[in-house]
Amino acid sequence: MEVIRDPQQMQKRAMGWRRQGVVVGLVPTMGFLHDGHLSLVRIAKAKSDVVVLSLFVNPTQFGPNEDLDRYPSNIQRDLELCEQEGVSVVFMPDADAVYAADASVFVQEEQLSQGLCGLSRPIHFRGVLTVVAKLFNLVLPDLSVFGEKDAQQIRLIRRMVRDLNFPIKIISGPIVREADGVAMSSRNSNLDAASREQAVVLRKSLLDIQQAVSSGECSVAALRKRADGHLADTPLGALDYLEFVDNETLESVAEIGERAVLLAMAVQFPGARLIDNIVLERGAQAALQAK
Ligand code: PAF
Repeated sequence: MEVIRDPQQMQKRAMGWRRQGVVVGLVPTMGFLHDGHLSLVRIAKAKSDVVVLSLFVNPTQFGPNEDLDRYPSNIQRDLELCEQEGVSVVFMPDADAVYAADASVFVQEEQLSQGLCGLSRPIHFRGVLTVVAKLFNLVLPDLSVFGEKDAQQIRLIRRMVRDLNFPIKIISGPIVREADGVAMSSRNSNLDAASREQAVVLRKSLLDIQQAVSSGECSVAALRKRADGHLADTPLGALDYLEFVDNETLESVAEIGERAVLLAMAVQFPGARLIDNIVLERGAQAALQAK
């Protein structure tokens, strides 16, 4: 396994692969790897000749009062895990090599980025899309794999790829969970014991709502109330949002209808803000019940 730090060297290597017809899979990460990341590496490996994992805590996607300086890191362990998983190259640039001091071009999406996490993190997706576009230009992948936990992020990345004509296939990997159902996230390590215990509120609320949908409840106003009891049991967590949006357009819906609905949730704990989601499909539930 090779570690490349210099963006130009990365791009040169990528151009060589392209000339040779090597299929390149990219897994972008901010490090502090867990099984969720490793599942994405496995997906990339099954579909590519070489896998590049980028490990870069991207400063432009953090707001001024967010957790950039507390973002967990253990590079030695990350490199060992990458080696074990058969990653070919870890691309690990420094921030000043990625961004010129007077950088003035950013990628801004203007629809899907407005709601959900975009409301409390107004510059977040501009930073994400900018760094992902840069990684695409430096690694020149044929495909890139992202986790469904960041549901809004992957929809935005697909939109960027479509609108800016990147010749890259975007693949999503399912959410990987801890034994108690909490979605794996590097940020979980910043929760104290009491918050970690209460972090199940997201999964419990989502499953409770999903259950109600499969029993025939379609009104979002009624479904929303199903989370109240779980939130009341979670004094350490402040609800940022619990939103029902169209799974493709991310526009709010008032009812669960024929189209799939993304139910997304964010809760701020003292040490970390956690997100989770589930896709509600009334048609699929009905078909399941009819079997
Ligand atoms: O999902 C993440 O870890 C980050 O947002 C990403 C895609 C690596 C961009 O920094």
